[in-house]
Amino acid sequence: KEVMGVIGYPISHSLSPLMHETAFKELNLEMAYHAFHVHPDRVEEAIAGIRGLGIKGINVTIPHKVSVIPYLDEVDELAKEIGAVNTIVNESGRLKGYNTDGEGFVRSLLEADVVLSDKRVLMVGAGGASKGVSLALAQHGLKEIVITNRTYSKGEELAENCSKFAVSSALSLEEAKDKLNDFDIIINGTSMGMKPHEDKTPISLDNLSDNAVVCDLIYTPLKTKWLLEAELRGATILNGVEMFVYQGALAFEKWTGMKAPIEVMRNAVLRQLG
Ligand code: ATR
Repeated sequence: KEVMGVIGYPISHSLSPLMHETAFKELNLEMAYHAFHVHPDRVEEAIAGIRGLGIKGINVTIPHKVSVIPYLDEVDELAKEIGAVNTIVNESGRLKGYNTDGEGFVRSLLEADVVLSDKRVLMVGAGGASKGVSLALAQHGLKEIVITNRTYSKGEELAENCSKFAVSSALSLEEAKDKLNDFDIIINGTSMGMKPHEDKTPISLDNLSDNAVVCDLIYTPLKTKWLLEAELRGATILNGVEMFVYQGALAFEKWTGMKAPIEVMRNAVLRQLG
């Protein structure tokens, strides 16, 4: 059996093994997927292990997405721009890093028949997750992407990065709230919404436009308080499961060269989160 896997710290709650094993089974592939618990001090050895053991593909999750980079042979352009790798492909001993998180998100929008070229996007947040998604979106050709973040300077820095590919600027949370109806797609890339009794939401939806698409990168819970609120206001909502499934599908396709069985992958994840 060929071996794939994921490295993270901690890793026991990862849904990637279940999702990929389900895909392998569906396509009758002789492949296995293992979750590797890798301490931050052991990243270099872990990467050497991929080469030594001939592991075909590895996903990289928190907190190793940045620290793996120096040990790879090559990093693709988008991953370089984002400064983080979530997928490694072993091409006969040469390790190449990719970032399929942002691309996965873009693909989930496209699969939901969202046309990006005429859209104004508001990203709430400027951490690692927001960066990956914002840069992938910017590279896909949008009308505009605006970043709003609690720490304004971080939002400004991300907007400057995005402006290499699309019209981009930063707003304070207060300004963004007032101008919310300017945006067609609004994305929560912050960690707000994961804690069960949190009463604050990433940004007030009072000024939400009709026909807006509201997305959360979080998938536990499946519907954050913020997404529920958006749904009540009549928005189309998209939760983080789609991005998770599509980032996995893109990794699967790079490793196997085969089209990923999206439906069974999504169902396996949803059954588990159910
Ligand atoms: P990740 O890699 O998951 O994106 P991160 O890099 O720590 O994690 O980023 C977390 C994001 O959530 C940041 O945009 C952060 O805002 P700051 O840059 O101001 O720290 C945002 N965030 C986290 N908790 C928040 C809160 N209580 N209110 C507003 N924003 C919050």
